[in-house]
Amino acid sequence: MLSRIPVTRLSLGASAAARRLYSVNARAGPSKAYLKATHTVTAPSPKTASFLARGEQYLLPVYARPDFVLEKGKGSWVWDVDGNKYLDFTAGIAVNSLGHSDEGVSKVLAEQSSKILHASNVYHNEWAGKLAELIVTLTQKEGGLGYAPGSAATQGTASTPKVFFANTGTEANEGALKVARKVAKERWASAVPGRKEGDYYNECTKTGIVCFENAFHGRSMGALSVTPNPKYQVPFAPLIPGVQVGQVNEIDAVNSLVDEDTCAVIIEPVQGEGGIHPVKVEFLRALRKRCDEVGAVLIFDEIQCGLFRSGTLWTHSSYPVDCHPDIVTMAKPLANGYPIGAVLLRPSIAETMTAGTHGTTFGGSPLACAVGYHVLNRLSQPEMKSQIAETSTYLRERLSHLPKWFPQILESEIRGRGLILGLGFRDEGLPGKVVGLARERGVFLLTAGKDAIRFVPSLNVTKEEVDYAVDVLESSLSVV
Ligand SMILES: Cc1ncc(COP(=O)(O)O)c(C=O)c1O
Repeated sequence: MLSRIPVTRLSLGASAAARRLYSVNARAGPSKAYLKATHTVTAPSPKTASFLARGEQYLLPVYARPDFVLEKGKGSWVWDVDGNKYLDFTAGIAVNSLGHSDEGVSKVLAEQSSKILHASNVYHNEWAGKLAELIVTLTQKEGGLGYAPGSAATQGTASTPKVFFANTGTEANEGALKVARKVAKERWASAVPGRKEGDYYNECTKTGIVCFENAFHGRSMGALSVTPNPKYQVPFAPLIPGVQVGQVNEIDAVNSLVDEDTCAVIIEPVQGEGGIHPVKVEFLRALRKRCDEVGAVLIFDEIQCGLFRSGTLWTHSSYPVDCHPDIVTMAKPLANGYPIGAVLLRPSIAETMTAGTHGTTFGGSPLACAVGYHVLNRLSQPEMKSQIAETSTYLRERLSHLPKWFPQILESEIRGRGLILGLGFRDEGLPGKVVGLARERGVFLLTAGKDAIRFVPSLNVTKEEVDYAVDVLESSLSVV
């Protein structure tokens, strides 16, 4: 066993006095507790080697992975098949918000899978409607999609937002882009008297899509077309035509970027994969205004930053309603690792979609939705929200010392909000190296974009775990 126990201790229940005693301001310099690697894999054990060999023989080699094989997890910790223990400070790329092997999630999975797991969308099931209702009513209560926080739940089918369930984030974005195309075609058709929408679908020029540099929306043809990273796009070109790429927060460019031929604008309110770049409220407002002027649909991809990761239900929940989107896409943490994606649509947008216009075999299954209901219900409890706020403040405070201690390596600002935080590096070669050094000291971290390390731990991560992660990070930065 190579596991190390965190050196610092502070329980969540600690008194305010104890917390002050622990103040990170008192630290004179970075932790040097983990200068020596504890988890280096020099030669994989025979057991690990046999798993790796099988993978190498049969799996498509699209991932570069370290030489160990994970077997189990609990909370924020995972173990490999040789019993080595790691702190997973990535939550499976912002997925396991309640941590690994959560007992409540396992119970719902076991119970629901022994009742009915899948029956297709040819038939109704009890859980899809319940989860959709929870997503909509929480949005009305917490704010988002045009609702200010504290809005009353709507009554009546025509005035209620709607949800479409998919299986992944990519598929949710595909759905959102398709809906936007149809809405825009109908708006285009209805602008000329006598023109019948269906007859003119092929002539419609209102099909352009606007996305932004550093965005990540997925890897299917549609989602990839709005993910302007040459590394991902170039081998697979040609992609879908008519995509314009703008710069986040460049308000002056919005009017020329979004024009009469634009059907959709898609944006992450905090860019995740692209480097943890929060989008300014004024920029979202400018997009909203311009979309309304030209009849384009505004889509917020909250797949990574939503569902309480940024501290509120949606990143945009606390923003004024004049910068809210028409559609929100979500996925990652919704069922804590069981695959699910969803599209949340304003009623006026949803009304364009009728039976047969879109669909999926697996999306909205009783199993995925029962788990999603359980997870979202727990994430939305007040205690969880205060824990996220408290942990976020603590992690940010600890990170805030690093630029002072490593000014040649790090940028001065900590990026992001809630528990989607980033540390910018001056040298693009370093984030990957530091992530590797941290892994050799028992902590999983992620890079983001070309120049950042990303912190997206489980939302119930403890302060002791934060301490271990940051101590290891500090030691790794010292090694660099
Ligand atoms: C913002 C965002 N959108 C879309 C996706 C794609 O989601 P998935 O991998 O579930 O298809 C991701 C995945 O990282 C993401 O971060």
